[in-house]
Amino acid sequence: MTDWIKACSTNSLGQGEMFSLDHNDKKLLLTNMNGKIFATDRICTHAEADLSTGILSENGLTCPLHLSIFNMDDGMPQNLPAEKPLQIYRTKIQDNNILIEV
Ligand code: FES
Repeated sequence: MTDWIKACSTNSLGQGEMFSLDHNDKKLLLTNMNGKIFATDRICTHAEADLSTGILSENGLTCPLHLSIFNMDDGMPQNLPAEKPLQIYRTKIQDNNILIEV
């Protein structure tokens, strides 16, 4: 069963910014790419680097450790060494807050 949780206000996530939060055992990351909001797991699927210290660009989110780039739409890595996709989550905006379906 899924649930919508409040992550942050829309003001907390400007264009090109990231926002980290934990929910139960999940480490989540919100990203704002060109005004589009994405929610993914925050831990790299390769060797568990924290992606919140990575680089967000037009190409996706680059892992700070071994530089795999993840597509935010589907979580797929675009280059090695990561091979497994990031878990992605649906988001919605309600009353100026960003909600994530977990
Ligand atoms: S830990 Fe992210 S690519 Fe290796």
